[in-house]
Amino acid sequence: MKKPQRWLTLLWFVLALLPLAAWLNQQAPRWTGIAFLLQAVLFLGVGYLGSATLGYGTTLLATVVLAAGQLALRHWWLGSTGFWWATLVAALLASLAGALIWRWRQEHYGADVHFDLIAPWYERLIHPQDPARLLEALQLTPESRVLDAGGGTGRVAQFLQPARQLVVVDLSVGMLRYAQEKPGVQAVAALTERLPFPDATFDRIVMVDALHHVFEQAASVSELCRVLAPGGRLIIEEPDFNLPIIKALALGEKLLLMRSHFLYPEEIAALLPPEARVEITSQRGMAHIIVTK
Ligand SMILES: C[S@@+](CC[C@H](N)C(=O)[O-])C[C@H]1O[C@@H](n2cnc3c(N)ncnc32)[C@H](O)[C@@H]1O
Repeated sequence: MKKPQRWLTLLWFVLALLPLAAWLNQQAPRWTGIAFLLQAVLFLGVGYLGSATLGYGTTLLATVVLAAGQLALRHWWLGSTGFWWATLVAALLASLAGALIWRWRQEHYGADVHFDLIAPWYERLIHPQDPARLLEALQLTPESRVLDAGGGTGRVAQFLQPARQLVVVDLSVGMLRYAQEKPGVQAVAALTERLPFPDATFDRIVMVDALHHVFEQAASVSELCRVLAPGGRLIIEEPDFNLPIIKALALGEKLLLMRSHFLYPEEIAALLPPEARVEITSQRGMAHIIVTK
C-alpha cells in the first residue's frame, strides 16, 4: 500500500465511521452495541494505518486528540456521556491494538518502517560528525575491508577511510538510499541476524547505535564475529545503559512502541565468543565494546 492510499483510507474511516456510529447511538439503545463496535473498528484503523503512515508516537497523539474531540462534542451530537467515556477507553485500547498489529506485521515482513519513514530527516536530527574515537580504535589501513552493520544512511561510514572496501548493511531500504549516495559506499539490504557474506570477509566491522534496534541481538553479534577475519577488529558502539539518562531514553522508545531493547555493555560483551579479546570503554554517554578476533 502506498502512503496516499493509507491517508485516504484513514480519512474514510474517520469521515464515514464516526458519524455513522454517532447516528446509530442516537437512534435507539439497541444500536449502541453496533455503534460501540464501529468506534472500536475506527480506532483499530487509526492505530494500524496511522502507525504505518505517521509512526507510533504521532498516532497515539492523534488517537487522544480524536477521542477527546468526541468527548468534547458529546452533548451536541452524541447522546449518553457514559457511552462516550466507555468509547474513550475502547478507542485507546483499539488504537494500541492497531499499532501492535502493525508492528507485528512489520517484524513479520522484516522491513523497518520506522527508519524508512525518518530516513529523509535522519541526518538533520543526528548530525554526522567525525567519529574520532571510533577511527582511533579501528586503525584502518588502505587494505581494510570494512563493514558498517546497521549503518543506516552511512552517517558514520562516510568517515571510515582509508579502506579497500566499504559496505553498509541495513534493513531499511529508505536509509540505504542515502548511504549509497556517499562516496565509496556499497549499500546492502540485509538483516544483521543473517549477513549475506562468507566467513572472514571483513577486517574491520563497526555497529553504531544499532544493536538495541535489531530483532535478535545474540544472533547479530554471532554473525558479526563470523564475518570478521582472524586478527580483525569489531567495535560495537551503544548508548551506555548504566547511565540514568539512557534508561529514560529507553523508556521513551518503549512508549513510542519502538522495537529497541538496550543492553548493558557487559551484557553485550557476554554475547561474544569466549576466545575474543574484549575491551569496554565509556565516554560521553556512549559505550564502546572493542573486540579483537
Ligand atoms: C539509530 S539507526 C543508526 C544508523 C547508523 N549506524 C548511524 O549511527 O547513523 C539504527 C539502524 O539500524 C537498522 N536496523 C535495525 N534492525 C536491523 C537489523 N535487524 N538488521 C540490519 N539493520 C537493522 C535500522 O534500519 C537503522 O538504520
